[in-house]
Amino acid sequence: MTSTTINGRPLVLPDDPDALLIDVIREGGLTGTKLVCGSGVCGACTVLLDGAPVVSCLLPAQAAAGKSLTTIEGVGAAGLHPVQKAFMAHDALQCGFCTPGFVVEATAFHDSWRATKGTATPSREEIAAALSGHLCRCGAYEGIFRAVAEACSGRFDGIEPIAPRLEARDKVTGLARYTVDIHQDGQLEGVILRAHVAHARITGLDLAPARAIAGVAAVVPLLDDDNMVRFVGAPIAAVAARDRRTAL
Ligand code: FES
Ligand code: FES
Repeated sequence: MTSTTINGRPLVLPDDPDALLIDVIREGGLTGTKLVCGSGVCGACTVLLDGAPVVSCLLPAQAAAGKSLTTIEGVGAAGLHPVQKAFMAHDALQCGFCTPGFVVEATAFHDSWRATKGTATPSREEIAAALSGHLCRCGAYEGIFRAVAEACSGRFDGIEPIAPRLEARDKVTGLARYTVDIHQDGQLEGVILRAHVAHARITGLDLAPARAIAGVAAVVPLLDDDNMVRFVGAPIAAVAARDRRTAL
């Protein structure tokens, strides 16, 4: 049995070597960490592992064994971090779905910047490089760049921000709840198996082993009659199961 600490509290990790860190975090009720691309591209799932930002959608949960994990809920738990205040004051968010990942990465950048450069203001290029692993589909980049620059310069040290957006505090602390964060009794999670190649004919699709897994409620093929896939990401089959880990 292996364990980690998450936001200072002990957490036993599953023995399953395929269990992903993000699923363990979210299944434990810390839903501030968001799953978006699931492929290491968008940064929404970023957490700190021994203080270093990592994308939890690609990391096996076992990689956290013996280490210290910090999620957005643990950032500024003792009081808002200057980066969180700056995001609120500059309205550096819209829907807020990307915000936890940006904030976690930006706090690591801020803390290391302040330790070495004091209250100098980082350039736009330096901030862009630090946040290059993150995507904001709402396009809140102007506010994000301003917020990180001013947090690093010390402008938000020790002050309470005035936020133009009512729900800003919930969104920068990971407390905002979205539909994907709500779990009802008996609810199923769906996962779609997609093509990894751009053009191929599927010569065999055996769904029986997936249907036999405990917790799987339904598996359906999604191929057309010609069994062809014509683009990367073309749907092949869909699975509904008691949780995402089982569906995967
Ligand atoms: S969800 Fe992990 S990088 Fe996009
Ligand atoms: S605020 Fe909506 S994706 Fe960034």
